[in-house]
Amino acid sequence: MLVPREQASGERRVAATPETVRRLHTHGIQLQIEEGAGLASGYLDADYCDAGADLVASDRLPWDGVDGVLCLHPPAPAALQQLRSGALLVGLLAPYGAHDLVQILCERRTASLALELLPRISRAQSMDVLSSQANIAGYKAVLLAASALDRYVPMLMTAAGTIQPARVLVLGAGVAGLQAVATARRLGGVVYVSDVRPAVKEQVESLGGRFLDPPEIAEKPAEAGGYAKEASEAFLAAQRQQLAEQLALADMVICTAQVPGKAAPRLISEAMLDGMRPGSVVVDLAVAQGGNCFGTVPGETVERNGVLLIGADALPASVPNHASALYARNIAALVEHIKGEEGWNLDPADPILEGCLLTHEGACRRPDVVDPGGQASRQRPSEANSQPVGVNR
Ligand code: NAI
Repeated sequence: MLVPREQASGERRVAATPETVRRLHTHGIQLQIEEGAGLASGYLDADYCDAGADLVASDRLPWDGVDGVLCLHPPAPAALQQLRSGALLVGLLAPYGAHDLVQILCERRTASLALELLPRISRAQSMDVLSSQANIAGYKAVLLAASALDRYVPMLMTAAGTIQPARVLVLGAGVAGLQAVATARRLGGVVYVSDVRPAVKEQVESLGGRFLDPPEIAEKPAEAGGYAKEASEAFLAAQRQQLAEQLALADMVICTAQVPGKAAPRLISEAMLDGMRPGSVVVDLAVAQGGNCFGTVPGETVERNGVLLIGADALPASVPNHASALYARNIAALVEHIKGEEGWNLDPADPILEGCLLTHEGACRRPDVVDPGGQASRQRPSEANSQPVGVNR
């Protein structure tokens, strides 16, 4: 299998490490690593070689000679068009609305696993890249906020008097949010948490956070498979009212609220920002999905009346060594799972693959994701037929 050097701007991670080269080798899988692929994340070519990988020069990548490609982001179309029939592509393929990518994969009869769509079930935990990467994002978000803050985070008793601990508000207590709670607590902050799923209250409290119960209105958002469903505008309005008071008291706000495949819920309005203390910091992890906070811009820090709004995208890539180590282990677990005696064992009925098998045997298996609203999208994945669909635009 080929592991190319990632081409996306700012991406410093790599999809295999010397550890996973060794691990996959014991399962009969030989990795071919593009020269320099691991350099930005601290993994040297020599270490890949020692682990048993073949190094390949960037101008001679054997796209047409490999059984599969392990990546972070989809390689360029020109590269994908060289893949041989039946090859496998595994990575974060950004499948929502990805017509062009799916069209190429179907034409080439490339099987693909979009890791964003891996189900959150116990059996798939070791493969769950969204969790391993969101964990890093939650950690790094707190560090960013702490270093931009105009105050200490911990309580300090000094000769010059006592310093009160920073007050941290975390919106969304999924993977990133819970790690943000844990990290902010380790730094000594007092942490408040808002989430629409009451089930997370216990987890928040076990980390030392204080849970803000969701607003008491009839239309509560539902939950499925460990993810929240979209909240109604009435619910969000009630929630914003509840949060306005908390925001006025907060020093650091970490935004991680999301509903998969939807725009991020807008939890902090312009008026709510007006009520915040100058010098306080908001880090918006959901900025790429439209943002939980008014005025955040992907990759930028905006100052608004003294409040810093950090649009934090691509945080895992800013911790590339460990982010790659975890990502590579996740991928290795998935590849081991599908390795058959001969070729890939891609059973669409496998509960792990059912959600994340994006294309297989020339057909798109997740038209509901690639072409939401299209006729084929009304089928559940297990009902999707094997016609190439939703790729004719
Ligand atoms: P998750 O799905 O595990 O957690 C999201 C949480 O938000 C859930 O607990 C859900 O109940 C909650 N939520 C939904 N609606 C809410 C509302 N109205 N109010 C409060 N909570 C609400 O997601 P995960 O994996 O923790 O990711 C969180 C966000 O971080 C996502 O937007 C994800 O795309 C983003 N992310 C950003 C990264 C970056 O570098 N900026 C890296 C990784 C993830």
